[in-house]
Amino acid sequence: MPPRLLILDDEQTVRSKAGDFFRADGYAVNLAETADEGLRILHGGEIDLIVVDLSPGKSGQNMIDEILRDYSGIPIIILADPQCVEDAIACMRKGAYEYRAKPVDLKELALLVQRALSVRALEKENASLHIQLQDRFGLTNIIGRSPEMEHIFDKVRTVAPTKANVLITGESGTGKELIANAIHLLSERARFPFVKVHCSALASGVLESELFGHEKGAFTGASRLHRGRFELANRGTIFLDEIGDIDASLQVKLLRVLQERSFERVGGEETISVDVRLVTATNRDLFQMVEKGLFRDDLYYRLNVVLIHTPPLRERKGDIPLLVNSFLREYCRENGMIEKKIDQRTMAALEQYRWSGNVREMKNLVENLVVMSKGPIIQYSDLPDYIREEKKSDTIVLAAGKTLDEYERELILATLHWTGGNKSRAASVLGIGRKTLHRKLEEYGQTVS
Ligand SMILES: Nc1ncnc2c1ncn2[C@@H]1O[C@H](COP(=O)(O)OP(=O)(O)OP(=O)(O)O)[C@@H](O)[C@H]1O
Ligand SMILES: [Mg+2]
Repeated sequence: MPPRLLILDDEQTVRSKAGDFFRADGYAVNLAETADEGLRILHGGEIDLIVVDLSPGKSGQNMIDEILRDYSGIPIIILADPQCVEDAIACMRKGAYEYRAKPVDLKELALLVQRALSVRALEKENASLHIQLQDRFGLTNIIGRSPEMEHIFDKVRTVAPTKANVLITGESGTGKELIANAIHLLSERARFPFVKVHCSALASGVLESELFGHEKGAFTGASRLHRGRFELANRGTIFLDEIGDIDASLQVKLLRVLQERSFERVGGEETISVDVRLVTATNRDLFQMVEKGLFRDDLYYRLNVVLIHTPPLRERKGDIPLLVNSFLREYCRENGMIEKKIDQRTMAALEQYRWSGNVREMKNLVENLVVMSKGPIIQYSDLPDYIREEKKSDTIVLAAGKTLDEYERELILATLHWTGGNKSRAASVLGIGRKTLHRKLEEYGQTVS
């Protein structure tokens, strides 16, 4: 389909000359004499670019304002009367693409039109790539419908567009990195880098020069200037994973960057300013580390402007079938298999399991099941022993012939096993007080710590 132009000029001769010229050049051209007429054409159909005349006392200015407001994606080229050049520049500040003072050479105008259209096409392509990225790494990629996950999605959406530092806490494999990624992608910073640093993987000195960079000759082996991750992340987001593992001296340096938004490279004197959004994550109890004096409290409060806690999978069992099915689809597709299903009993066992490695552990297991199970339906016998055994001890079989007290005992012990021996959780799952649970356990001859 040829590109569609709208040319608005009240002078009949200018209009038709430009119209003929662009039609001969392969464009579909709409001509309008007045702003009203031009806006009607715009409302009525798709236009790729607008050429508009701006002369004293005419309504061009209002029309431009209206287009910029309602059709901000369409490039506008202004043909300005020499007296209106200032106004044309003001329009460009508001978003018009270009202007030319009249009289305008049509060949030059054609070049300008061509350039504006290709810039627009690139912008469109960029926007669609951005949407695809958001789909892959944004919230749509994070599975979960439990109230706990809905609460997290809500928090991510609220905090993403702001500058606030975010601390993500949660057990290993609960999706902290996915969330950090989503925060970046849902922010204005998405066009700039997302830089991830694994703090526990590097020795302190190496980590410092990794974060802040170093000058040539800063230390033995520093043969050239090295830009740190903070510099590379400028205008984007830096994600410091395992932040609980950084030592005291690095904590001080990080605090300074957060306070002043600037730093020096190792061995350097030049102060470098950056605009970086900080997202940190840890699976350690940072607050407890603060209380024990292992982590600076001033740094903790700066990192923890907004806290997102990812709950372990065993606390949102309702999400388990959703996750299992989604990973099943993913791995079947990846391995070119028709989609395998999982039977009810097997799914129930997966729901019961404790998943100490959380979603990561589950994802690996599902991949294993997809690859190793023989038939189209994954069955209980396909499960590894440790899951089947755990299911047994978490399950109580109800059958006539026992007293209520006996079932109560079985249920209490199974629940305790299921919470990994955590009595407070067991009491809360059972809907009884901690004291009652202790009393019962004593009755059963269980040692109570
Ligand atoms: N809610 C979820 N939906 C889909 N996939 C998930 C979800 N949570 C985690 N995953 C997947 O589980 C794996 C682990 O997630 P991630 O790396 O984000 O966890 P983490 O909390 O950063 O773990 P660690 O503390 O060990 O670094 C990844 O493959 C991730 O894609
Ligand atoms: Mg992680």
